[in-house]
Amino acid sequence: MLKALEWLDEERALRLLDQRALPGAELYVLCRQVEEVAQAIENMTVRGAPAIGIAAAYGTVLAAREGPEAVADALKRLARTRPTAVNLFQALALMKHSLGAARQLSPLELEERLLGEARRFHEEDLKNNHRLGEFGAALLPDRATVLTHCNAGAIATGGHGTALGVLRSAREAGKQVRVYADETRPLLQGARLTAWELARDGFDVTLIADSMAAALMKSGEVDAVIVGADRIVRNGDTANKIGTYMLAVLAEAHQIPFYVAAPWSTVDTSLPDGSHIPIEERSEEELRVLFEGRVPDEVKIWNPAFDVTPAHLISAIITERGVFRGPGYDLKEFEARPFVTAS
Ligand code: MRU
Repeated sequence: MLKALEWLDEERALRLLDQRALPGAELYVLCRQVEEVAQAIENMTVRGAPAIGIAAAYGTVLAAREGPEAVADALKRLARTRPTAVNLFQALALMKHSLGAARQLSPLELEERLLGEARRFHEEDLKNNHRLGEFGAALLPDRATVLTHCNAGAIATGGHGTALGVLRSAREAGKQVRVYADETRPLLQGARLTAWELARDGFDVTLIADSMAAALMKSGEVDAVIVGADRIVRNGDTANKIGTYMLAVLAEAHQIPFYVAAPWSTVDTSLPDGSHIPIEERSEEELRVLFEGRVPDEVKIWNPAFDVTPAHLISAIITERGVFRGPGYDLKEFEARPFVTAS
């Protein structure tokens, strides 16, 4: 299994799979400075909500040798990278807590303390994905055909994946799974990453352009839509890659179950509903550059990276704590409880 992130002990550095180069080349970027990690998150060398959080956790470790003030600055810099995925802020909160408890330590001891925390966060994510994968797999019929959007795979996480983790777990449970992957404009995470990741793992995968989803659903081919998430708030409203909301509307129109799969680190119980989620707007260049030439400068461009799917369009939210079927729940109630049974 490819690793999106790996801490290299000997180098005291974070190694990132360069997701911008895929599927053409498997390149790696070595980060030795916090600034390098921050830029790797911004330019999407590393992307996907859980992977961003893990990268940020390791990023703070890189500042530790310069002492607690440098770590505090690192926390601030990393918080300015991308606004929507809450995993980033959960990771930074965890590292800040560790820092608070370790201010008296020497720089080397501080580094060890923060590294231990970042490693735990990373390992937990992998464990949680396997756990939520099992919950999600139970929801799929045998011989399931699933549509997914963007990339919520192993490379977007600490491993196994969330939406794609459900598919992997279903296969491990002996179910046959066929997958349709949306291209996912404008940055083509579906075409470049999901289709590649699934094919590499031996899945039967078919790529479609985003505009083909309605026709595909109408054909009766799709048993379920499964996507990941960047932030799920108290009432279940969910931010994910732009185009997710459109799929949820289409799924309802065609009476197809629409599932969100995400670890609890993607849940933000501080926000009551989706209208409060900050939505990242990315550079207009992502749309202006054509196969050949450019869209003329007088054409304005709107390029939000995410949209919010209201809870009432989500059949179930699959987490490592169990499966939540809404609408009408308050996820805050489940924060402290260990598990809800999958149904
Ligand atoms: O802009 P990206 O590629 O970071 O967006 C990623 C997504 O929207 C994913 O679906 C989400 O982060 C879940 S990844 C397990």
